[in-house]
Amino acid sequence: MKELIRKDVDITAMTTFGIPVKARYFAEYSSLAELQAIMRTPEYQQNEALHIGGGSNLLFVNNFDGIVLHSRIKGIKEYRKNDDTIYIIAGAGEKWSDLVDYCVGRGYAGMENMAGIPGEAGASAIQNVGAYGVEAKDVIFSVECYDRLSHRVVRFTNDECKFAYRDSIFKHEARGRYFVLRVSYRLTPSPIASTLEYGPLRSLGDTLGHRPTLREVRDEVIRLRDSKLPDPSVIGSAGSFFKNPVMPRRYFEKTVAPLWPEEIPHYDLPGDMVKVPAGWLIEHAGLKGKRIGGAEVYPKQCLVIANTGNASAASVTGLCDLIRKTVHSRFRILLHPEVNFIDTSVHIEVLGSGTSRGVPEPACPCDVCTSSDPKDKRLRASVLVRTHGLNILIDASPDLRTQLIRSQITDIDATLITHQHYDHVGGLDDLRAFCLDKDMPLYASAAVAADLRKRLDYAFRPHPYPGVPVFDVHEIGDHTFYIDGLAVTPIAVKHASLPILGFRIGRFAYITDAKTIEESELEKLTGLDVLIVNALRFEPHFSHFDVQEALALIERVKPRQAWLTHICHDMGRHEDVAPRLPENVHLAYDGLKILIP
Ligand code: EPU
Repeated sequence: MKELIRKDVDITAMTTFGIPVKARYFAEYSSLAELQAIMRTPEYQQNEALHIGGGSNLLFVNNFDGIVLHSRIKGIKEYRKNDDTIYIIAGAGEKWSDLVDYCVGRGYAGMENMAGIPGEAGASAIQNVGAYGVEAKDVIFSVECYDRLSHRVVRFTNDECKFAYRDSIFKHEARGRYFVLRVSYRLTPSPIASTLEYGPLRSLGDTLGHRPTLREVRDEVIRLRDSKLPDPSVIGSAGSFFKNPVMPRRYFEKTVAPLWPEEIPHYDLPGDMVKVPAGWLIEHAGLKGKRIGGAEVYPKQCLVIANTGNASAASVTGLCDLIRKTVHSRFRILLHPEVNFIDTSVHIEVLGSGTSRGVPEPACPCDVCTSSDPKDKRLRASVLVRTHGLNILIDASPDLRTQLIRSQITDIDATLITHQHYDHVGGLDDLRAFCLDKDMPLYASAAVAADLRKRLDYAFRPHPYPGVPVFDVHEIGDHTFYIDGLAVTPIAVKHASLPILGFRIGRFAYITDAKTIEESELEKLTGLDVLIVNALRFEPHFSHFDVQEALALIERVKPRQAWLTHICHDMGRHEDVAPRLPENVHLAYDGLKILIP
């Protein structure tokens, strides 16, 4: 079975972007037995695993240091229930466009609007692919998966998949846990297409002089796609690079609409929400044809970033950042990528490294508080973590506004809260800037969440004052949870007698305000590249680690590098303390940037 796995494989051709990328291991399987055989190997068990489909929605930001899996489970079976219903069961490795053509060819209605979408059947369920007014969720009946935790084959009904626009449970809480084996679709035997509401298809019947057949819709969709979207076999891309942004109607009408002299195209959605075409925004922000290196805003459809031949992942991410910044400053809308960024590197920025009073302390004449060294200026503790295309804030210090402006932070995807003390949550109101067109996801323990609902009661009222921050609170326990597929592991520590949380993201962990940590939690801190941990000062303190206690923890869990944070003026001046620390231990300071490649 060993030959199922290959080492150091160039997987460029497995992606539609065509940007050179290698995987340390690559494995393909054609049956459940082969998948199970792969899962028994050390290559699988000792490495991060990524399952890909047709690679049509992926951007590898760097080479993948793990095992990439791909299903070659094939086969299309059909079961006719009655005259109105036909069930089609497709192997996850079936090409999506072949599956659509199969159904159109046999007169099964439901998929014809989704003709020509690149990718495979398995991914149709994960991504809820869609086009021209129809989404995969409209035809998916159930999804058969292999559960990596229970090692059993399980079935998700359509409802259980929690489908939404380009979204499903497999991109959130179930991400990475299941491998899709087969997808079953429920279609209607009919020669006539059913969904013709979407703009360009609306006039098709008039042009033809009759209600269009499945094949006529299929052919028209392919023609439309060919006229706008690059053919992946000629020009690399990942289809739509961004999602079409959805926002409250009030925000669209008051803030966005006045920014353009004519009407901005938009579609009404339930719940008083409005969807705006991202391609229009990009084009009208003046970015049509804009290039960075070999990456280009595709002129025929600005929603696409095209690889003109020699694009690197850096040029694509650079263009993505430029598009987001330009559209935001022109239309006050922040676009979010639809493409999955595969980026295991972690960028950390220390926004504040000070204890609750900060350094300098107001009115304190000591030589630390009066030092002119910028490394002795310490705002209240907080960090920003960037990985897998997400910006995650840990704690919202009362200095957050200053920190956001100083570090030019324009986007926060989620906020994690360690505990409810004022110096860690006092700046939550400053997150208003990121709650204009969406709610801010906030992750905290149940106790902290309850505290925040009281502290920020005005933000949680049924009819809040317009403009207050809008939080989407997720209560978390001690177990790993997922933010858009990013695994975050809470680490339970105690701040005197108060149970609080640290967080691990990949090979980085952040612990602040700890005084004790249970032996059982230490396991979560093994194999770290970077640990940031609190150390108040050299003298002991009843609720915070002193330097000796922090160094003892570092010695136990042995990260490659450690940085001390949540520091008070009693610690002494940066330049005096730094030489006294072990070689791999440093004093954090405001503005410090750390990269885990
Ligand atoms: N528009 C512009 N300039 C552009 C692109 C679009 O002004 O450069 C305008 C169009 O004129 C139109 C509106 O924006 O008024 C919408 O454009 P279009 O109908 O092409 O659809 P889209 O919203 O840009 C979505 C999907 C596509 C799907 C099409 C057709 C997303 C993110 N994209 O694009 O899906 O093919 O609708 O249904 O929802 C994909 O997911 O990879 C994909 C290609």
